Amino acid sequence: MLKTAIMVSGGGTNLQAIIDAVESGKITNTELSLVVSNNPNAKALERADKAGIRNLCLSPKSYSNREEFDRVFTKTIMDAGIDLIVLAGFMMLLPKELVQAFQNRIINIHPALIPSFCGHGAYGLHVHEMALEKGVKVSGATVHFVDEVYDNGPIVMQKAVEVHQEDTPETLQKRIMEQAEWIILPKTIDLIANGKVHVENGKVRISD
Ligand code: GRF
Repeated sequence: MLKTAIMVSGGGTNLQAIIDAVESGKITNTELSLVVSNNPNAKALERADKAGIRNLCLSPKSYSNREEFDRVFTKTIMDAGIDLIVLAGFMMLLPKELVQAFQNRIINIHPALIPSFCGHGAYGLHVHEMALEKGVKVSGATVHFVDEVYDNGPIVMQKAVEVHQEDTPETLQKRIMEQAEWIILPKTIDLIANGKVHVENGKVRISD
């Protein structure tokens, strides 16, 4: 059973997609062990409560310095015996020591086709503003492993979504969530939970 921790900061629609996929059997061999938010007001925490998933808020503001926060954050994950960390709209850089301890065991969902529209500062609606500003005809979402650099680790899965002429950042975000994010993130978790995702020379191979 893959003990999974999900990190959230906002609405939690990706978390909800994961919860629904476990309940419907689309995700197998996985236990949603813990939800952690850095934002006490995140609607994602309510979603975790409703699903009966242990959840807590670890806010940097509650700690005297970033080192103390990083230590508590890392200890919480280690003590929970987590196998896979899922960043589902998590708006913080993870503690370095955690990333190093979880090499190729942390995945992130990014709302664009990496390497487009990614990296420091490219998050949330701003990603879609950048895509519309560039005039791309196709955008989408990416699931990738997390390393020390923003949006940089090996790509596991991507799904393309059409950009419409009349799109606003909000309409594009909604379409990418519905048609890409909420599909490829649960799918990736199921593949990892069933030993089908392999990283070789920095590239991901998925066995059938
Ligand atoms: C999603 O668009 C995700 O791609 C990005 O942050 C947003 C989180 O939304 N990383 P939600 O909290 O899952 O609704």
